[in-house]
Amino acid sequence: MSILITGGAGYIGSHCCVSFLESGLDVVVFDNFSNSNPESLKRVEQITGRSLKIEQGDIRDQSTLETVMKRHACEGVIHFAGLKAVGESSQDPLAYYDNNVIGTHRLLSAMDATGVRKLIFSSSATVYGEPKSLPLTEEHSLNPVNPYGRTKLFVEDMLRDLAASNSEWRVGILRYFNPVGAHSSGLIGEDPLGVPNNLMPFIAQVATGRRERLNVFGDDYPTRDGTGVRDYIHVVDLVEGHLQAYEKLAKLPSSSNSFSVNLGTGNGYSVLEMVKAFERGSNQPVPYEVVERRSGDVAECYADTQKAEELLAWTADRNLGDMCSDTWHWVRKNPLGYAAESDSND
Ligand code: NAD
Ligand code: WQD
Repeated sequence: MSILITGGAGYIGSHCCVSFLESGLDVVVFDNFSNSNPESLKRVEQITGRSLKIEQGDIRDQSTLETVMKRHACEGVIHFAGLKAVGESSQDPLAYYDNNVIGTHRLLSAMDATGVRKLIFSSSATVYGEPKSLPLTEEHSLNPVNPYGRTKLFVEDMLRDLAASNSEWRVGILRYFNPVGAHSSGLIGEDPLGVPNNLMPFIAQVATGRRERLNVFGDDYPTRDGTGVRDYIHVVDLVEGHLQAYEKLAKLPSSSNSFSVNLGTGNGYSVLEMVKAFERGSNQPVPYEVVERRSGDVAECYADTQKAEELLAWTADRNLGDMCSDTWHWVRKNPLGYAAESDSND
């Protein structure tokens, strides 16, 4: 029996492949490589010394998914595949509803048709919208403020409806806060196309000299130093949470066959604290300039982690220093990401 990891070649998916392979599970990756490079999967095999089964395909293609799930006797799915850029989702909402909502609908239909009814879904803290109280508990109201966030909420609702309709389903919804960092080998990490939207990859590219300086989006928020505060979580901790969540699915009773859990550390760090921490971790300067606030940003966002501790027996172990030094190790070894390697193989 194997586990199907959709989007397994991407940033979080590739780290999840390592964690699942290392725990002895067999993994099939299903990815259309629209935002990733197959090189990441070679690196996963290098790190683990185990081989992956790789199927190139699109989650919107239900019949191919059914064939793949039957071919590899899949017992469950970890579902990462989708689009994730908040700004782009406002410019091209149809692409987001197509990939994220219709894509997940096709995946669930394929799973139902083949009797594979165990799923872990990558949701996001963005489903909470503007925090009304902090830390954010899972009971906080769900009110996303952009199309990307709404696609995550639609999928969450679809999953809750599906689980309620048939007690054979086992569904875990994981709401990530801000995943950062890289595997300690420096072989896999985050490899954004073009200008990074997120803070950590941008800081890393400034530290390597690829970009001149960081734009800090506002220093007049009601926070310690006026800059935005977020709950950054090491990607390896995050994927270990997936392993715990997947194991939990098998233990859920049919009367309570789904859960939604935050994956964060519970600690908030400001933009300037991130800059300072990265300077310490890399021993490089990170020049910055304070500019206007970015529209749609909130002042502070961090998780209540109690439910993850109680339900999954999981907490994040790695600290901010680990997040910075592992990111630095990855970008130092791969200043152009995976592209350089795949170009040289062409
Ligand atoms: P990523 O873009 O690196 O990985 C997504 C993978 O899915 C890529 O390999 C891409 O090629 C693949 N993919 C996209 N559309 C596909 C399709 N239609 N069919 C098959 N494959 C497809 O993103 P990531 O950062 O690894 O995020 C993984 C998941 O976690 C996403 O669902 C994202 O929304 C969610 N998430 C990410 C973050 C974050 O900050 N990175 C935070 C919260 C939630
Ligand atoms: C963090 C902080 C910015 C870039 C986003 C998505 C969310 C989730 C994670 C997928 C904020 C500041 C950033 C820069 C800056 N993704 N910043 N200069 O906005 O918390 O969350 O990624 O689900 O849905 O919204 O993360 O890394 O973009 O920003 O000053 O160049 O860094 O203003 O305070 P965010 P981020």
